[in-house]
Amino acid sequence: MAYVITEDCIRCKYQDCVQVCPVDCFHEGANMLVIDPEECIDCGLCVPECEASAIIEHTDKDGERWLKLNEEYSQKWPIITDKHEAPADGKQYEGVPGKFEKYFDPTPAD
Ligand code: SF4
Ligand code: F3S
Repeated sequence: MAYVITEDCIRCKYQDCVQVCPVDCFHEGANMLVIDPEECIDCGLCVPECEASAIIEHTDKDGERWLKLNEEYSQKWPIITDKHEAPADGKQYEGVPGKFEKYFDPTPAD
């Protein structure tokens, strides 16, 4: 089992999740984060930290879809261990449906 990040993170990217993870298993893309499911110890600490409700268990509805994305991009994007500036316009993207199709960016963070 593992926790995974869904498209709800895209363009919100608040990063409060990163600050509580005991095993540093978050990886950063240009406009979202993913969790390395191999490293996640299922502590659940990150879930209530995310104001965008973007973190779910991979066994939840639609979890398999996001598990694949988290597996793939945790191998391609760098580890993030500290919160830095979040997007200034993040609030306006909270809960917007279909963000993956509209905005997903496979570019790794700088
Ligand atoms: Fe890290 Fe725990 Fe969240 Fe997994 S569930 S990503 S170990 S804080
Ligand atoms: Fe994304 Fe939520 Fe973390 S918006 S960066 S999963 S706190």
